[in-house]
Amino acid sequence: MTEAIHDLGHGFWSIRGDLRIGGVLNVGTQASLVRLTSGQFVMLDSYPLRGEIRDRVMALTDQGRAVAAVLNLHPFHTLHCAATARDFPQAALFGSYRHRRQHPDLDWRSEPVESPEVADMFSRDLVLTLPRGIDYVSTNERVHAGSLLAWHPASRSLHVDDTINLMPVPSLLRRFVRKPRLFLHPSLPQALQQHPAALAEFRTWLRGLATEAADLRWLCAAHSGVRRFAPGQFTTELAAAFSRIEPKLARAEARNR
Ligand SMILES: [Fe+2]
Repeated sequence: MTEAIHDLGHGFWSIRGDLRIGGVLNVGTQASLVRLTSGQFVMLDSYPLRGEIRDRVMALTDQGRAVAAVLNLHPFHTLHCAATARDFPQAALFGSYRHRRQHPDLDWRSEPVESPEVADMFSRDLVLTLPRGIDYVSTNERVHAGSLLAWHPASRSLHVDDTINLMPVPSLLRRFVRKPRLFLHPSLPQALQQHPAALAEFRTWLRGLATEAADLRWLCAAHSGVRRFAPGQFTTELAAAFSRIEPKLARAEARNR
């Protein structure tokens, strides 16, 4: 993956970034820029803006002055918070308690990003939805299944970090496999909360998301890119992804009893 910005229309831009594990393997990362009905903008997640992408974002946002807020959505995606806070010093900075703990020097808003108060603040333009039945911030630092998802009905785009992923298609196979496959994060069973209703709660939440985003056009997934869906296709593929991981979730639930 190389850096890029995609205009998905209706006030939504997906920024595709580089993230190298151990300095070698580029697993990619993302941020999104959303224009609100008010004319101001919100950044979803943090990413250091450089070159043409920076020029484009600054031109759209009156040199950054029109960015009203930065919402850091994934508790374990904390590398770039300071760079984005520096780029938009006037923007209200939101994050989970883990973002605040990693960057205690930044000027965080007191409301946690995943709180109903923050969802209300942006509800005119965004649906911020927190998966139920799984931990948002796992005590196990390797469990990244939990995240806050952002649905933008105007562009029918869903910005999601880690909870839902797209399987990258190796370039050699692109002639045969056109669309990257949707899957739920493999660490989901470890994120399942330790109470008897956890799996039922997660299933109900996922079905609610599938209904809410039934006409989804764009899925922006953190480490694997952007994919276009035909109306109704996301619902079907999300249900199939859930079926593939459901036995593991059921076993985890049985262990938790
Ligand atoms: Fe991640």
